Amino acid sequence: MINIEDVTLSDSSTSVEPNDNLWAELGNNTYDTKDILSELIDNSLAARIPNELVHVVLQIVVDDDGRPIKFIITDDAKGIPTDKLGYAIAPAGIQTHNSLNEHGLGMKQAIAALGKLDYLLTKTLDDSKAKLVKEFKFGHIPIYEIDYSANSGTEISIKDLHHQFSTDTMSITKKLIPYLGARYRKYLKVEFPLMSLQFQIINEDGSIRHTWSVTAVSPVYFHPATRDNRPSIHEFALAGSGWSATLTFGYAPKTDAEYEEMGIDATPQYSPYYVSLSKQGMDILIHDRVILFHQLSEIGIVEVKHPRFNITRGEINLKEGFSTAITKNALIQDSNFQECISQIREVLNGERIGPNRKKHDYLRFAATPEQLPEKLLRDRLASWLSTSPLNHKEHVNTEYVLEGIEGYIDVFADNEAYELKVNQASAYDVYQLYMYMDIGDISVGYLAADGFSTGAQIAARHLKEDKGVDLSLVNLSDFPIMNAPTPDELAQYY
Ligand SMILES: Nc1ncnc2c1ncn2[C@@H]1O[C@H](COP(=O)(O)OP(=O)(O)O)[C@@H](O)[C@H]1O
Ligand SMILES: [Mg+2]
Repeated sequence: MINIEDVTLSDSSTSVEPNDNLWAELGNNTYDTKDILSELIDNSLAARIPNELVHVVLQIVVDDDGRPIKFIITDDAKGIPTDKLGYAIAPAGIQTHNSLNEHGLGMKQAIAALGKLDYLLTKTLDDSKAKLVKEFKFGHIPIYEIDYSANSGTEISIKDLHHQFSTDTMSITKKLIPYLGARYRKYLKVEFPLMSLQFQIINEDGSIRHTWSVTAVSPVYFHPATRDNRPSIHEFALAGSGWSATLTFGYAPKTDAEYEEMGIDATPQYSPYYVSLSKQGMDILIHDRVILFHQLSEIGIVEVKHPRFNITRGEINLKEGFSTAITKNALIQDSNFQECISQIREVLNGERIGPNRKKHDYLRFAATPEQLPEKLLRDRLASWLSTSPLNHKEHVNTEYVLEGIEGYIDVFADNEAYELKVNQASAYDVYQLYMYMDIGDISVGYLAADGFSTGAQIAARHLKEDKGVDLSLVNLSDFPIMNAPTPDELAQYY
């Protein structure tokens, strides 16, 4: 290793000039069709006129044989002032924080990924004519003028397409439109939409072949207790030094009957939120649009994908202190991001206090025990004990009263006592069960709960090791009684 202090200045120097190869090179990125289009949509959204709906139209122009020859995006946003145009075109020329724009690269990456710039036209409210450039390069570029009917806006046309656009209407309907609807759901929401987004296939003469209106696509939840379209965790605030985020988490409906009960159409197979292995987990949003879809094992919330997580849904909304990579389909995995994800992992695994100041293992249960009435769990346990071929019991009683003692045993089955707690069990719960066992001369006891305090574990160990009492701590979820309530149970227990 040299000591940099030891250098001396030589006679020579070198000149580093911008190279125009960069413009095409920016197109060699990892974007798929929706990501490319999103860079351009982001720009229209970011430039929207406050309190006005921005209209964005995406058009694929096809020749007589239906082959794509051009792509055009048009918006009626603010437009780019002429004195800013050069900076907007220069790679990394305008960098923004807390905005849908960020690195000053998006438009250039999107254009180069699609093909070659035909023209960029833009008009602000102050301009009488639109300004137009035909080429992106370093140095001076000519600006043309043209009459343009809209008051303001930007139109970008790209020719010599090398991006493989699919013009198959079925594939656009199923693969592209729903994902754009999901990505921009916060901007497309039915009440107070901020953007209208159209996708069209048009002929060279401008006539329309097909048109799609992109509408908001949101995950459908089924809340096990309230039985409506609601997540179990709603915008729970998380923060660290220099960052903040919110977590929304819940479960998708599992049966057609559950959709029907909520009066919602079942999610089609092509939906971004269809229940399946590849679509499990949470979306990550930044500036209110989805950057990454269904993340769970990908960000280390669970180690591997497993079908039991298929119904998990949610949103990680990154608020402050995060940045995207230079392509916006990835996040910088810095310490803020790592810390945020590890907090989420702990909340969802029940290792960290979550909503309602409680710890709860959200990933373990589809239905959360505290959302199921204790009486219902007790009756389900009794019925399972008397019918299961595995652990069959002849005589099963619920609310079994011991002579002379206040209180009762939740389930008493063939001289075994079962006590249920929908929350975490404490040392007192352990000793209460032991009291029943002692007085009732019951040889075997099970305390079933949603987790056990350290005190409960010490108490149980003491009873077992020092007093030889056969009392076991069992997680509620180890019994097959945690499913969401049936309509009959709803009528009876709620
Ligand atoms: N449709 C548009 N309307 C108004 N301004 C735009 C539009 N597209 C791009 N710009 C301007 O160009 C700048 C650079 O955009 P872009 O290349 O997409 O960079 P970034 O990677 O930051 O999104 C933006 O910050 C904005 O000022
Ligand atoms: Mg941008």
